[in-house]
Amino acid sequence: MERVSALAKRRGFIYQGSEIYGGFKGFWDYGPLGTELKNNIKRQWWKSMVYDRDDVVGVDAAIIMNPKVWEASGHTQAFTDPLAECKACHHRFRADKAEGKCPDCGGELTEPKKFNLLTEVYIGTVEESKVKAYLRGEITQGVFVNFRNVVDSTRVKIPFGIAQIGKAFRNEITPGNFTFRSIEFEQMELEYFIEPNEGPADKTFDYWKDARKNWYTGLGIKKENLRFREHEEHEKAHYARKAVDIEYQAPFGWSELEGIHHRGDFDLKNHNLEYKDEDGKGYTPWVIETSGGVDRAALFFLINAYHEDPSTNSGQGRVVLKLHPLLAPYKVAVFPLLANKEELVKKAREIYQTLKGKFYVAWDARGNIGKRYFAQDEIGTPWCVTIDFTTLDDETVTVRDRDTAKQERVSVDKLPSYLQNKLEQ
Ligand code: GAP
Repeated sequence: MERVSALAKRRGFIYQGSEIYGGFKGFWDYGPLGTELKNNIKRQWWKSMVYDRDDVVGVDAAIIMNPKVWEASGHTQAFTDPLAECKACHHRFRADKAEGKCPDCGGELTEPKKFNLLTEVYIGTVEESKVKAYLRGEITQGVFVNFRNVVDSTRVKIPFGIAQIGKAFRNEITPGNFTFRSIEFEQMELEYFIEPNEGPADKTFDYWKDARKNWYTGLGIKKENLRFREHEEHEKAHYARKAVDIEYQAPFGWSELEGIHHRGDFDLKNHNLEYKDEDGKGYTPWVIETSGGVDRAALFFLINAYHEDPSTNSGQGRVVLKLHPLLAPYKVAVFPLLANKEELVKKAREIYQTLKGKFYVAWDARGNIGKRYFAQDEIGTPWCVTIDFTTLDDETVTVRDRDTAKQERVSVDKLPSYLQNKLEQ
C-alpha cells in the first residue's frame, strides 16, 4: 500500500489535497496521470452502462439541491454512522469499526451517538437570509428528482435505467486508507427502474450484481480478489431492502468497492413520483441500483496492477503497473533511440505526431533507452515504440510490450492499426 501511494505521488497519479498548506484530511487531488486513469475508468463505465445498451440514458444533476430533497429521501434523519469518543484522548471513531476500545490509545469509548454524514453549505448573499443546503451525500437523488423529466423528455419505457457519474460528499468520521474513505469522492451509479414484482426484481438484482463484477474482471481485476458480501439487517442503508457489496481484497482487508441495492419504491414514493404505462395504469416502480466509487475503483485498479519484478541486470527491481490498456493513462510512448541524432529525432517526432491524433501518446528522449522503458513500465504504458537507424532504412520500428518486455518490428504505416488492434483485444 505504501509503495503504491508513493508511486502514485512520485509519478503524478494522486497528491494529498492542499498539500502546500499541510494537506486537508479526507481530500485528494489527482495529478496528470491520475486524471487520465479516472477518466478512462469513467469512459469504460459509461460505455458499458449507456452506449452499449438500448435501455439506459444518462443525466448530470446539480450537486446542491433544494434541501427538501434530503428531507424526503430520509437522509437528514437516517444518513448516519455511530460515533464514539475516547474518554482519554478524545479522538472520535466509528463505533461499529472500533471494536469496543479506542484504536489510538486503547481508552474507554463513550456510548455511540448517531452522527449525520451530510455536509452542510450555506447559499445566499445576505447573512440573515442564507439558506442551509447540503452537498449531495449520494449522487442518486439527482436521478430520482429528474425521473419525471426523463420519462417525459425521452422515449424510455420500463424497464429502463438512468446512469450518472459525479461527486458526492460525506462528513466521514474517520477518512483514511489513502483515498479509500474520503470526504469528497466520485460515484458512478445506475438506477434501474422496473415493475414492482418480487421475482423479476430478484432476477434483475442478480443480473446487475454479476454484470458489475464482470466489468471489473474484464478490466483486469483478478477474480480471486473480488467477492460478494450481503449486508446483514443492521448494516443496510435506510433505503435498502437488500444490499450486496462487491468487495476487493485490499492490503487493509476485504473492502467495499461497489454496492448493489434493491431500493424498492422507497425513493420514488417519498418524492411522490409515479410511472404511467402505455394503458395509462399508474404505479411506483422499484429500483435496482449499482453504485460504484470512481476513486475506490482507481485505487484498487492501481493496487491490482502494481508488480515488482526482482530481475534486472542492474539488480534494481522493475516496477510494472500492469493496468488494462484501456485504463492506462498513455497507450503508447515514442522514443528516438538516441536524442542527439537529429535524423532519428525528426523521424520519431513525425511518428509521434501521427499517433497523437489517435491515442494519448508519451514522448521521451531523456537518458538511455532502458531507463525510458522502466519509466513507462512504472506508469503502465502498454507499448513503447523506438525509432532507430533501421527505421531510417526500412520504415520499421520496434514495439516493446510492457508485460513481456518482448519486442516486435512493425512497419510505420501499419503502426496505428497494429496498436488499435492490440487495444481492442
Ligand atoms: N447511492 C447508493 C450509495 O451511495 P454507498 O454504498 O453508500 O451507496 C456507493 O456508496 C459507493 O460509493 C461505495 O461502494 C464506494 O465505492 C463509494 N463511496 C462511498 N463512500 C465513500 C467515501 N467516503 N470515500 C470514497 N468512496 C466512497
